[in-house]
Amino acid sequence: MTITKYFPKKISLSTLIIFAFTSCQPNTTNEQTIESLLSQMTIAEKVGQITQIDHRFLDDHSDITDYSIGSLLSGGGSHPKENTLKAWVDLYNGYQEKALASRLGIPLIYGIDAVHGHNNVKGATIFPHNIGLGATGNADIVRLVSEATSSEVAATGINWTFAPCIATPQDYRWGRTYEGFSSDPNLVLKLGVAAVEGYQSANKKNQRKVIACAKHFIGDGNTVFGTGIKNLVDRGNTIMTRETLKETLIPAYQAAVDAGVQTVMASYNSWNGVKCHGSKELLTDILKEEMGFEGFIISDWQGIDEIPGDYKSDIVTSINAGMDMVMVSGEGEPYKKFMALLTEAIEEELIPMSRIDDAVARILKVKLEVGLFDEPLMDYEYLSEIGSKKHREIARDAVRQSVVVLKNESILPLSDSTKEVRWSKIVVAGKGADNLGMQCGGWTIEWQGGQGDITEGTTILEGLVENAPPGIEIIHDPRANKVKGDVAVIIIGEDPYTEFFGDRDSLNLNKEDLQVIENAKAQGMKVVVLLTSGRPMNIANHIDNWDAFAAIWLPGTEGAGISDVLYGRYNPTGRLSFPWPVQAEEGTSSSSLIYDMGEGLSYE
Ligand code: GLC
Repeated sequence: MTITKYFPKKISLSTLIIFAFTSCQPNTTNEQTIESLLSQMTIAEKVGQITQIDHRFLDDHSDITDYSIGSLLSGGGSHPKENTLKAWVDLYNGYQEKALASRLGIPLIYGIDAVHGHNNVKGATIFPHNIGLGATGNADIVRLVSEATSSEVAATGINWTFAPCIATPQDYRWGRTYEGFSSDPNLVLKLGVAAVEGYQSANKKNQRKVIACAKHFIGDGNTVFGTGIKNLVDRGNTIMTRETLKETLIPAYQAAVDAGVQTVMASYNSWNGVKCHGSKELLTDILKEEMGFEGFIISDWQGIDEIPGDYKSDIVTSINAGMDMVMVSGEGEPYKKFMALLTEAIEEELIPMSRIDDAVARILKVKLEVGLFDEPLMDYEYLSEIGSKKHREIARDAVRQSVVVLKNESILPLSDSTKEVRWSKIVVAGKGADNLGMQCGGWTIEWQGGQGDITEGTTILEGLVENAPPGIEIIHDPRANKVKGDVAVIIIGEDPYTEFFGDRDSLNLNKEDLQVIENAKAQGMKVVVLLTSGRPMNIANHIDNWDAFAAIWLPGTEGAGISDVLYGRYNPTGRLSFPWPVQAEEGTSSSSLIYDMGEGLSYE
């Protein structure tokens, strides 16, 4: 165990003893350290390690010390008062020092949803959401994106991202469709492994690893419409035999486990009527025993609360089922109530101590392997990684590769260096033209994302203006009703949403978008429609009136990648990773497709 570079200001005597013990035995194995710690831990300290709280809901920061809290998180939109890079490092260090000051000085592990970049952090690079990465079909770019994300997460001190989501969304009315790479389990497996490898690649400079989290185990994208929240999709019931589960959904998780993923998040949905959060068959029999998962299982946000029964029985059911850490969050049931009830359940032997020790041992093992006992604190040294030119270039490349051109009546590319300028006056319109928040989508700065200049980046319009070839004039006319050009590029689509806020029973395009396209047509312009969305939508009744169409998904902050494709500097390679039904609400069950999985045009 190396000498800790950053000695916390206050260090407890027992920490010194452990440190002395382990340091003087240079070949102290992690197992010996775990055994030593477990033998000293009280029930209260073991309960603390199993508890994860969103930092916003801490009653008092000293609770971290007093209760030996094992983990904190920043949920969607949970950031320091001032969302600055240094404030993130200070936030992390402040909490970590509280953990190191506890009786045994066990460092806490801090988790965050860095699902398309370090997306809670203002100024971070925001990459395309998984549906766009799925359209690249390219494991290399996914690995690069995840590695860059991991580097930005590590720079703030944080050690754990709740990513990748390896759902295989089937019903596009699900608000989380865009968090899936594809409806095809094989593509999800390929890209999921690349993401795990990228996220968990040690940060080159400070060797600080970030751990990944395969989620949500299992069947989150396969629920039956009408069984979810508000009788829609999210958190509904997945009906599937164990054999089908093993053939379709398990392989991506097995591959993630084999790739060394350190955590798995249980899913809110039910499997054949049983909440995943309370299913011993799923969490222990299948994931831990059959699949050999040796990391730890984290619940979703207040996920155990949705198990039928009162809160104490939820706790008993979930921990006995194999849950190792509980994202209590503190927003619903108070975390002190959780800890008191868990302690009670242990004392009443409703939960065997062997299960508690197994959970804590798994948590300690991950903390040791991620290097937290060696380097618990962070400095400002790596903050230049965040939003760096290098990472933005990776993001722009991912954007280029994610664009799926599906119709092109000889309009695109808008310029061709080998020919004279074809379209000299290009109108750019639509609510997504100059709207960074819309092109980023959910999980960006705030939980539900936002509109307009929510962070630093390049809008699609800015990209078209900054990269216009000589002879091409770009005019921004939001509703395409003021200026007549040769071609109108119209960016339409969905306002940002996250999770069940995006559940819909209809996937029609909105009237405002359709009106802008009509305005452009009425002026006699050719129209190139770009759809910014988290899923396939109902375009079948409209696309005949469009001269060109591309799905650009949720590209993130590097909108210039879109102009690279439109100007022909990148020959589009994006291909659909979801089949596109005539009636989008039918999802993958549709037998009438407008475009099939794998479709997409290139220019030649
Ligand atoms: C959310 C999501 C999960 C996320 C967690 C923490 O409800 O279901 O994907 O990682 O809570 O924000």
